[in-house]
Amino acid sequence: MDCHLDPEELEFWESQKRCGEEIDLKLARDLPDDTPDFILRMMDDFEEEAARFCFSGVHGRVLDAGCGNGNLLIRALKDRRSRKNRDTKALEVVGMDFSANMLGRAAARARSDGRAAFLQGSVTDLPFQDQSFDRVVSSGVLTCLPNTSAAAKALQEFYRVLKPEGTLAVDFFSRTSHYTMIRKHLFREPINPPEYVSPSEFYAELDKAGFAVLECRGFDFKPCQGYLFLSPWRRFIDPGFFQERLSSFLERRVLPGRKKLNLLGYRIYVKCIKK
Ligand SMILES: C[S@@+](CC[C@H](N)C(=O)[O-])C[C@H]1O[C@@H](n2cnc3c(N)ncnc32)[C@H](O)[C@@H]1O
Repeated sequence: MDCHLDPEELEFWESQKRCGEEIDLKLARDLPDDTPDFILRMMDDFEEEAARFCFSGVHGRVLDAGCGNGNLLIRALKDRRSRKNRDTKALEVVGMDFSANMLGRAAARARSDGRAAFLQGSVTDLPFQDQSFDRVVSSGVLTCLPNTSAAAKALQEFYRVLKPEGTLAVDFFSRTSHYTMIRKHLFREPINPPEYVSPSEFYAELDKAGFAVLECRGFDFKPCQGYLFLSPWRRFIDPGFFQERLSSFLERRVLPGRKKLNLLGYRIYVKCIKK
């Protein structure tokens, strides 16, 4: 199908093979084989929390736009509260991605669950009717798009397919987090949209697309690079172990009481409604 894709991008995502294999956390993220358990646990916790934020209170028809291998979607389906809905068929989740490989992996993981369906398509040109979803979730996708106009188009498309009372849950990587600031100013790395945007830029884009922000949830309060991105020699001075624990502590103990601090995180999920 014609998904209006950037060919290089599509090639990259299609190359993430292993379609049909049993997916574990390492495979899902393409982590090195020697990834320490604490990193795997930390990522597991993050995905659990992100899925809870994005899918909390879902009912009716839900679109996971750019569902990848189904990381969040599968967690949401397994959630006890949604399990209660299994009999009444109150929940229907559509996983969409432009990569057939990713979709194959997601479909293999959800095969026994009749509430899930999968379809290939692009977030910039959604293959769905206007106002046909109660919730749209899009996690880790806008940051993968080739330019800002594609990200703006995706937000417009999310608006179009949402019902009037529908909710959008979407995320971005903050350009103003400690981590990105250090990379930008100390290591002179390019920290540009659409991969990295400031909270105010992201909120302005949401506003332009017709959304009002309800709440946000920040993750990953690391001040510097962690284990995942380190070259072998830097592993010996890896501060990841400590900063991941600092992040977890902030996320669990401090942020629930001080919601504005969420905007200081590196990765920020936002929940919005149509204005
Ligand atoms: C980082 S993964 C995130 C997957 C999943 N949402 C999650 O949170 O684990 C990004 C996904 O976005 C998909 N993607 C990137 N650009 C897309 C586009 N224009 N339309 C649909 N999917 C896209 C990729 O194929 C990939 O599966």
